[in-house]
Formats: sequence, C-alpha cells, structure tokens
Amino acid sequence: MTNRPTVARTISTLRRSIQAYRDQGERIALVPTMGALHRGHVALVRAARRRAERVVVSIFVNPAQFAPHEDFGSYPRTFDTDLKALAEEQVELVWAPPPAVMYPDGFATRIAPEGAALAGLEDKFRPHFFGGVCTVVAKLFTQAMPDVALFGQKDYQQLRVVTQMASDLDLPVKVIGVPTVREKDGLALSSRNVYLSAPERAAAPVLHRVLRACATGIRAKEPVGAVIAAGRKEIAKAGFALDYLEARHALTLAPVTSRNDGPIRLLVAAKIGKTRLIDNLAV
Ligand code: PAF
Repeated sequence: MTNRPTVARTISTLRRSIQAYRDQGERIALVPTMGALHRGHVALVRAARRRAERVVVSIFVNPAQFAPHEDFGSYPRTFDTDLKALAEEQVELVWAPPPAVMYPDGFATRIAPEGAALAGLEDKFRPHFFGGVCTVVAKLFTQAMPDVALFGQKDYQQLRVVTQMASDLDLPVKVIGVPTVREKDGLALSSRNVYLSAPERAAAPVLHRVLRACATGIRAKEPVGAVIAAGRKEIAKAGFALDYLEARHALTLAPVTSRNDGPIRLLVAAKIGKTRLIDNLAV
C-alpha cells in the first residue's frame, strides 16, 4: 500500500512542509510539471530521488505559456491518476497551486529571457512561450527553494533557457537535464501524444528516425547543410508540416554550419494533423 502525497495548495502550506524537511537537514529536489504524467516524468522523479532526500513535484498547467489559440483549455488534466503515479514513486509532497495563488489579481511581472530564448526555434513559433515558462519557473524556484530542479531534455531549448535564467538571477538551485524517455519505436514521450490519431501515431516516429539519420551523417563528416535539407524533405514526405529542423550549438543554440562549430544538437518541431511534436538529439 502506498500513501497518497500531501497536496499543498497555498504557499504557506508548501513552505511549512519544506521548512520541516530543511530542519531535518534534508536536501530538496523539485520536478516542475504540468501534470498528465507519463514515464518521462517518472524518470525525472527517479533522477530527483538520487539527488535529494525529498522530492517535490509541482503540477500546474501554466496559462502564461500558452497563446490564446493554443491548447490550454484542452491540455490533458489527470490529477487523480498523477497522484497515484507519484504515490507509487513515494513522492510525499505535491505543489498544486490554484491559478489565483500563482497569479493573484494585480499580478504584473513577466520575465523576458534573451539569449537561447531568442534562438529562432520554439520562440519563433511560440513567441509568448519562454516568457511564460521563465515567469512560472522563477516563481516555483522561489516558492519551493529547491537545491536541485529537474527538467526533461525533450524540451531542450526550455532546458537551456531555464538553466541560463537560474544562473543570471543567482537563484540558488542547480538545474539538471534528464534524458528523453522514448517509446520502443523512438517517439519521445509527451503529454500531447494522446492527441495523435492512429495514423498520426504511426507516422510520428519519423522525427526521431530523421534526427538519428542526420546525426549519423554529420558524424560521418557529410556537410551539415545537405544533411539537414535531406532530413527536412523526409519529414515533409511523412505528412508533417515542418516548423524547423536545425543543427545548433548545444549550449548557445547558435546556428552551426560544420561539425567543428562545437557540440551540436539537432532540434525539430513539426505538426501532424493538429498536434505539434518536438524532439532533439545530440550529434
Ligand atoms: O515542461 C513543462 O512541463 C513546463 O513548461 C514547465 C517547466 C513545468 C513550466 O510550466
């Protein structure tokens, strides 16, 4: 029998629990999520467990990172199932603030990240996104004051942006990226995969296949431009509307033209039907 986690819904309740952990000399790891938890989130919780005695999972579907035309309203919300999954992982504390606690009336501050947040990748297609992510993540960090915070590498640009923000704002938290968890056919796990119809789901692994083929080509010293151009064609042929397939410097996300331009990360975003998928891979 596993115990359901305590759910904190106010900042004072959260802080009381955190202080009790601190009083016992325990380290705290935060796993920020928007719920609809899957095996990728479980991997974050397990990585957190290896780094701290206490794992706090936040569940908050953050309105500030969705544009009005995006899926905030229909984003999957599976709170009870999420709590059961977290109980299985022996998570004791879930931070699930109501929107009015996170953004009370009169809330008037928004973080405007630059650098990797303006790389021309996600930011080009979701210009409001990183401002919303940074605002909520900065709040989560100051609310929970974790020693470490874990983010999936699947949202690679987000990971770079949040790492930079924590450093720039001297937030006393170590941001750690956790490798992407995939289905057997290579599709990266995502809460949005539930939107895929059967034929879309069958086509979806092409993104990972193309990333792997591009990485192999670049490692074999084929010209980066030609490799990426072939990858873009392949993705379009599979029925996707491509937002981007790019080779970027793994840390700055600046464009690269050759393998010598630094550690390379390949990043892709594409829509199949109404569902937008993103993925990335190290070269
Ligand atoms: O990656 C996510 O689930 C969200 O962007 C995050 C980091 C929880 C902020 O809302």
